[in-house]
Amino acid sequence: MASLVRLLLLIIPLGLNLAASSITTANDQFIYSGFGGSNLIVDDTATVTPDGLVELTNGTAYLKGHAFHPAPFRLHDSVSGNGTVRSFSVAFVFGIVSVYPDFSAHGMAFVMAPRTNFSDALPAKYLGLTNVQNDGNSSNHIFAVELDTIQSVEFKDMNANHVGIDINGLQSLRAYNAGYYYDDKSGGGGFQSLKLISREAMQVWVDYHGEKKEINVTLAPLGVAKPGTPLLSATYDLSAVLADLVYLGFSAATGRVNSRHCVLGWSFGVDKQAPAIDITKLPKLPRAGPKPRSSKVLIIVLPIATATFVLGLGGALVLVVRKRSRYAELREDWEVEFGPHRFSYKDLFRATDGFRDKHLLGAGGFGRVYRGVLETSKLEVAVKKVSHESRQGMKEFISEITSIGRIRHRNLVQLLGYCRRKGELLLVYAYMPNGSLDKHLYDNGEDGRRPTLSWAQRFQIIRDVAAGLVYLHERWEKVVIHRDIKASNVLLDKGMNGQLGDFGLARLYDHGTDSQTTHVVGTMGYLAPELVRTGRASPPTDVFAFGIFLLEVACGQRPIKEKAQGEQIALVDWVLEHWLNGTIMETVDARLRGEYDVDKVELVLALGLMCSHPLANARPSIGQVMRYLTGVTPLPELTPTDVLALMQNKGLAASDLSYPDLVSSFGGTISSLSGGR
Ligand SMILES: Nc1ncnc2c1ncn2[C@@H]1O[C@H](COP(=O)(O)OP(=O)(O)OP(=O)(O)O)[C@@H](O)[C@H]1O
Ligand SMILES: *[C@@H]1O[C@H](CO)[C@@H](O)[C@H](O)[C@H]1NC(C)=O
Ligand SMILES: *[C@@H]1O[C@H](CO)[C@@H](O)[C@H](O)[C@H]1NC(C)=O
Ligand SMILES: *[C@@H]1O[C@H](CO)[C@@H](O)[C@H](O)[C@H]1NC(C)=O
Ligand SMILES: *[C@@H]1O[C@H](CO)[C@@H](O)[C@H](O)[C@H]1NC(C)=O
Ligand SMILES: *[C@@H]1O[C@H](CO)[C@@H](O)[C@H](O)[C@H]1NC(C)=O
Repeated sequence: MASLVRLLLLIIPLGLNLAASSITTANDQFIYSGFGGSNLIVDDTATVTPDGLVELTNGTAYLKGHAFHPAPFRLHDSVSGNGTVRSFSVAFVFGIVSVYPDFSAHGMAFVMAPRTNFSDALPAKYLGLTNVQNDGNSSNHIFAVELDTIQSVEFKDMNANHVGIDINGLQSLRAYNAGYYYDDKSGGGGFQSLKLISREAMQVWVDYHGEKKEINVTLAPLGVAKPGTPLLSATYDLSAVLADLVYLGFSAATGRVNSRHCVLGWSFGVDKQAPAIDITKLPKLPRAGPKPRSSKVLIIVLPIATATFVLGLGGALVLVVRKRSRYAELREDWEVEFGPHRFSYKDLFRATDGFRDKHLLGAGGFGRVYRGVLETSKLEVAVKKVSHESRQGMKEFISEITSIGRIRHRNLVQLLGYCRRKGELLLVYAYMPNGSLDKHLYDNGEDGRRPTLSWAQRFQIIRDVAAGLVYLHERWEKVVIHRDIKASNVLLDKGMNGQLGDFGLARLYDHGTDSQTTHVVGTMGYLAPELVRTGRASPPTDVFAFGIFLLEVACGQRPIKEKAQGEQIALVDWVLEHWLNGTIMETVDARLRGEYDVDKVELVLALGLMCSHPLANARPSIGQVMRYLTGVTPLPELTPTDVLALMQNKGLAASDLSYPDLVSSFGGTISSLSGGR
């Protein structure tokens, strides 16, 4: 029945409005049925697509976008001179397309404001409207209707799917669940909820009565006539809120999740109803995911999918039973608050083709890593399966990784979320197409033809990793210790930029351990002496590992170097030996064939030695390291005391703490976690 009504609604205006142009505008009204050829004022992120859709956000995280009707309106009554805002009416059609079906960030709003420049506004929960300083300030002169898809406690949001009336700030004057009131023929009626992020277009009406100071907001699915009862109704005098000249437009913002907020059509009228939007002329919403597939695919896939569905129904019972165990997950009450970061096992299973070996990217000390493509968003991900028997510390750990999940930096591999099963934790990361740095340093590829990284590339990667670490140690809201810096944890993105991966993961093995079973987490050869002694990680222990990493990249040698006859020597000691002999350049990776910047190589080697100083407080901070690398501060000479300390450490490392001893003294923990590679 509903679809019949919808069909009729589609057909009727088609006959009547064939000749109407898609944009008409006058002093007291305008109508856009699609935005092709319009000259909206849009800012950097917002675009009008060739088929006439306004995309306020383009599918990138932490962005805001705006679009405004080019001319402002004077809404204050000039005839009477008493300055009352006249009645007006707005209608618009919008759609929110998130990469995830059940989660979207952050929302959008219809806005009336004295300006079109919102460069000072913030994305995420501020919806691109206000910022920390000016939210709620009456000098904003903003009236907005928010379509909010995240619950922000700060703004007393009721839930993650509501519509609100906002005056000058994001704490709504009035708000209610997205949905609409309907009447049925028998005289009854009810409330039908709608999901703002359903990826379906919906229509909103905003009506203001100038004399009664009444604001009504009404929502309905596209094709359903305007419901008689508004979703929200408030009495508020907009005369003091709206400025003399008012721009009308839209604002939207993304957060950690990249969603597209779209406007398909829009109309406005002063002292009259907003003209009806011709829904037959509206552009289509984009498909979910970064690469929209052609509709041809749909034509082929749809019948197949339908057939599969029908066939599947038969076997459904069998499957349900099997699925229970196959996709079984572990969920506990405390996880509710981390909900948005939680992936379903099923999605991950599908994304990786059932964790087939074909998709195996590699295996590390923590578990195997699989490449996958998320079905709905077509996002490429790397899924790390970590076996974890103990539940101890799991809550803290999940809370930590989800907080870490909010960390976004171009030199840190992004953690997208997690999933938990019995004895198993799955971590979902952004996929890095060029793999890990160690492969590029030590492995010439299956055909022996992987090109050697040039010095320029290596130096860039070094600086990238340093920048990522500066962020973790000094810029993020709290100090995050990486604990496992090494070449195999440096991943390379499409442009061969270095991104530090795995941060915080080592923490998993730190929780719930007591002194008797101290696990030294980290990797042999990168462990600072005090870390081996106390088992306590700190920013200086990260700097130590970074120092070894510097040497590794410049020398193209693993931190524990094989000498002749299977004898092992620490890379630091070998470099130091050459340093003292004045033959430091002999340590530089021979595969560079002498093509490098001598000064920079020297800088990196000396800095490597300095960072791997045995005394923690003699090491520079990562911020200092960054200043040396960028040449802001010249590198100080290694003092004789430094050299002496390094040499003494050498003696220690060679005799007392040789590699096999270390392994046995920690009961094999090191080797089972990450040693031997
Ligand atoms: N985000 C990613 N994108 C692409 N490949 C990845 C990604 N994460 C890991 N890999 C690949 O999977 C391999 C194994 O990764 P993993 O981090 O488990 O091992 P590791 O770094 O060698 O050791 P550890 O677990 O001790 O840190 C890496 O060497 C890398 O090639
Ligand atoms: C989205 O807009 C931002 C800001 O203008 C830009 O940096 C980014 O590349 C855009 N992304 C896409 C997918 O167009
Ligand atoms: C303002 O003027 C309008 C039009 O004359 C009138 O209807 C309205 O009552 C006036 N409002 C006030 C507050 O005086
Ligand atoms: C917007 O305002 C900022 C200052 O608040 C200014 O720097 C910027 O140039 C303005 N942008 C436009 C497009 O006018
Ligand atoms: C509101 O903004 C005005 C102008 O920017 C500023 O002077 C005033 O201090 C602000 N008020 C509050 C309460 O922040
Ligand atoms: C708001 O809705 C109420 C209830 O349906 C209606 O009586 C009133 O006229 C509406 N006001 C406006 C401004 O549309």
